[in-house]
Order: sequence, then structure tokens, then C-alpha cells
Amino acid sequence: MSWDYWRLLTIVSLAGFVGLLFDQMVLFLFVSSFLYAFWIQAKWNQLWLWLQNPKKNPPPSAEGAIDDICRRIESVRLQNKSRKKRLADYLKQFQAATAALPDAVVVLGPQGQVAWANIASKQLLGIIWPRDSHVRVHNLIRDPVFQQLLTASPPKKKAKIVVSPVSADLYLEMKIVNYMGDGRLLIARDMSQTVKLQKMRRDFVANVSHELRTPLTVLHGYLETFDQDSPAEMWGSALPVMREQTQRMNLMINDLLVLSQLEMGEKKRQHKPVDVNALLTAIAEDAKQLKEYKQHQIQLDFESDDWLLADASELRSALSNLVFNAIKYTPEKAQITLCWKVNNNNACIEVNDNGMGIEEHHLARLTERFYRVDSGRAQETGGTGLGLAIVKHILKRHDAKLNISSEIGVGSQFHCCFPKLKLVKASKIDSISP
Ligand SMILES: Nc1ncnc2c1ncn2[C@@H]1O[C@H](COP(=O)(O)OP(=O)(O)OP(=O)(O)O)[C@@H](O)[C@H]1O
Ligand SMILES: [Mg+2]
Repeated sequence: MSWDYWRLLTIVSLAGFVGLLFDQMVLFLFVSSFLYAFWIQAKWNQLWLWLQNPKKNPPPSAEGAIDDICRRIESVRLQNKSRKKRLADYLKQFQAATAALPDAVVVLGPQGQVAWANIASKQLLGIIWPRDSHVRVHNLIRDPVFQQLLTASPPKKKAKIVVSPVSADLYLEMKIVNYMGDGRLLIARDMSQTVKLQKMRRDFVANVSHELRTPLTVLHGYLETFDQDSPAEMWGSALPVMREQTQRMNLMINDLLVLSQLEMGEKKRQHKPVDVNALLTAIAEDAKQLKEYKQHQIQLDFESDDWLLADASELRSALSNLVFNAIKYTPEKAQITLCWKVNNNNACIEVNDNGMGIEEHHLARLTERFYRVDSGRAQETGGTGLGLAIVKHILKRHDAKLNISSEIGVGSQFHCCFPKLKLVKASKIDSISP
């Protein structure tokens, strides 16, 4: 500050002294003060222009108050710049973190308008930010359960399951959380898998109870009618039926245990080369022992003698079910062909028949547990509807796929296709086997 006083003092003294020499002191004092004021004003103007656009205009250079002001402004500006950079970094980190979140997060304004949404909101809720910025969320998600959640006051603590506006198969757990006064956060999490599992569990319990009820009702009926005094001939006729029903229950429980073991992956994989041709021949012989076998023509068509790396007992159980199905669900004298083919892409074991076929709408559901095309007929044949579910799981454990095709009146084809790397050349077997 002292600079300004010294400068003013020097100018005034000099002007007074020179004015004294020329005997025009007042005039010199006036002119010098005017010029000084003008110079100061020019510097303030330069300061103003510099503040307006620091990149374009240089700062004023004048020792004293103006210089101090410039330095102070510059240091505040540098502080702000680094604070701004820090905040921008925080914002970037926050945006990256919310973008990585698998849950949808939508910031809602006081009227429920979209103020911000993360990337997951697009896949889960169909809300795209900034496209949907300021659109009211109840216009974007029209599910009545969500509308109730949105209008509930105070907000419901418990999350609700809502069907996503993006897809009817997408179930979301939605929650609205209040923050900072009237701000609201909508959080949605994909729960489709859990909802599907819950439904499967409910269906499974319902199916098992339904399947067990029939044999139990039969047994219960007999036991209600009979007592120890009932004549032997009555017991004689009832016993085979009772035996059959208990066998059926036993079969079902065994199948369910196998299925659960396969699903849980409890069983260890013991993959060894299996002679597919020998296995199919043996299964064809077993099939002839079935009570449903009525002059069926079983034909073997082996186009390869390669062996397959597989769990022998699991593979036998899967193929047996396909072959026994072909016997059980085709009329007498029907033709059944068992093929072993290796082509460029994969290796397939095929069980084909020329029976009555299966209607197309059943095909996608055949491998579901307890699914039967004609439950009446399957009950007659003692089927539980678990066979193809087991086949599917066994093939999955072998990285193989079950392809089913069928045509009414023409027949059905069940193809088990394995990746080619599961093949072992017959010529190499001797060197592998212990
Ligand atoms: N070759 C086939 N021709 C016509 N229908 C078939 C054939 N194979 C299976 N099906 C139908 O598919 C249904 C499901 O078969 P799956 O093997 O899963 O059960 P199942 O044979 O009824 O019982 P399980 O095999 O447990 O004894 C059968 O009930 C039958 O209706
Ligand atoms: Mg079956």
C-alpha cells in the first residue's frame, strides 16, 4: 500500500517544485493530479478487462494496491481451479462407481421427475439419462405396484417386486429412499432368477404332491376297505395293485434323488472311453425285456466305431430312458432306430421312432420335470415324467445337447449331440485301457 502513497507524494512534490520554478504551481499540481487519476483509472479498466477474460487480456502491472489485488485474485483462482479439479475427479469416480453398479439408481425430483439415472437403469427400467431428464417417472413405469410405492407417504420401507417395463420376464425389487429433504432415490434390482427359482420350488412341491397323491389314494382306498378278516381272494386281487403303486412311488423318489444329485453336482464325474456301439446293443437287448415291448423292430445303425469319453453308468441311464420311451410311447411293431453318427461338427447318438409323434407345442417343455404329453397314458405306462429331465442333466454334465424333433403321425427323433473332442478313436483304445 505504501507504494501508492509514495508515488502520489513524489508526483505531487515534483509537480509543485516544477510549478514553483515556472511560477505556475496550481496549474502544475492540477495537471499532474489529473494525469495520475487518469493513469489509475486506466489500470482499473485493465484490471476489469483481465477479470472478464483472463486468457485474452494481460493483468495490469502497477506496483501497489492493484498489483496486490491481482496477486490475491490469481491465488484464489488457482485454489478454485484445484478444488474444481478435485470435485470433477470425485464426480468422475462417483459416476464410474454408479455405472458399475448392477442395480438401477434413479434420482427423482420433488415431483417425481427424473433428475439423473445410472447406466443400469436403461437395461432394467428403460430409463435413459439425459434423454428422459425431467420426465415424470410414473409416466415411464406404469405398473400399479410401482405407482403405489411412488405415492406412499411416508415411503414404504419394504421393497416391492415389480415387473420391468422393459420385459415381462424381468422381475425387479424396487425401493424408494428419501434423502436430503425432498430428494428421492429409486433403486431397482434384478430378481428374475430368485422369482423363477421360487416359482420352480412352488411348482415342484405341487407336482410331487400331485404325483404322490394318486398311488397313495389307491393304497389308502384298499386299506380303508380291508381288515384282517377280509377274504384271501380280496387281498389276492388287491396286492398286485398295491405293490405296483408302491413301486411307482419308489421309482419316483429314486428319480428325484438322481435328479437332485445331478443338479447339485454331488456326483463325481468319472469320464472314461465308452464303446457306444456295444452300449446301444446292450440297451436294445434290455428294451426287449420291457412289458411294453410288443414286436417292436429295433434297428441298429452304426456309422462310426469311435468311443465316447463319458460316465458309462450315466450315459447308459440317459440312453435307456430314450430307448424305453420309444418302446413305451409307440404302438406295437413300430420301428425304432438307434444310430451313432460322427459328422464334421459333432458326434450324435440318435433314437428315432416311427410312432404317433408329439405335437410341436409340447417339444420345448418335454425336459421339464413331471411334464408328460398325455398324463393318462403315461400313468398307464408307469411314467413319472422325470426321465427326460434326467437325460437333459446328464447330457449337460457331458457338455452335450438334447435335440428333439417330432411330427404327428410320422415319429420322433431324440438326438444327443456331443462335442467332437469327447471322441476317442477305436484304434487308440488298447493303448489307453489299463
Ligand atoms: N418317443 C416318444 N414318442 C412319443 N412321446 C414321447 C416319446 N418320448 C417321450 N414322450 C413323451 O414325453 C413325456 C416325457 O417323457 P419322460 O421320459 O420325461 O417321462 P416318462 O417316460 O413319462 O416317465 P419316466 O421316464 O420318468 O418313467 C412322456 O410322458 C411322453 O408323453
Ligand atoms: Mg421316460
